[in-house]
Amino acid sequence: MKAVIIYDSVYGNTAKIARAMKDALAAHEVDMIKVGDADMEKVKGADLLIVGSPTHGGRPTPAMKNFLRKIPKNTLQGIRAATFDTGIPKAGQGAFLKLVISVLGYAAKYIATALKKKGATILKAETFYVIGKEGPLKNGELDRVQSWVKVFL
Ligand SMILES: Cc1cc2nc3c(=O)[nH]c(=O)nc-3n(C[C@H](O)[C@H](O)[C@H](O)COP(=O)(O)O)c2cc1C
Repeated sequence: MKAVIIYDSVYGNTAKIARAMKDALAAHEVDMIKVGDADMEKVKGADLLIVGSPTHGGRPTPAMKNFLRKIPKNTLQGIRAATFDTGIPKAGQGAFLKLVISVLGYAAKYIATALKKKGATILKAETFYVIGKEGPLKNGELDRVQSWVKVFL
């Protein structure tokens, strides 16, 4: 199986999740590409496409949105895809922040919708949690990657 992981990251937390996915898929051929270096040529021949971004205002980063917009129509036909994001958990926040996070949502769903529009079959869309804006990742999130990735093997 060939997997391509395309990710963005500002403070490094989403990059850590992407790296853990690559490591968990080590028995396979895996390319891990930061979104600024990604293009559709690099996705060609992939059996599994994983795309992840930090959540900014309920959406992916501008660079990721730009990448998703530029994917030509139907080019992901027949490709299995999974999406992920990092974001702040609702649990433990005050009522106002809880409401804001609920209304805005998380980036993984936005990415999944965008990839589906280009023809991909979406297997999963997942949020991995950070404790604050700059991280760190919540305890156990890197371990959670292990079981998340197993589903695709
Ligand atoms: C401009 C900005 C907007 C953000 N908006 C949200 C949001 O809407 N929901 C959320 O859960 N986290 C939000 N966050 C927190 C980010 O999700 C967090 O910075 C990110 O998960 C860290 O990933 P990174 O280290 O890969 O950049 C925001 C952070 C920034 C900087």
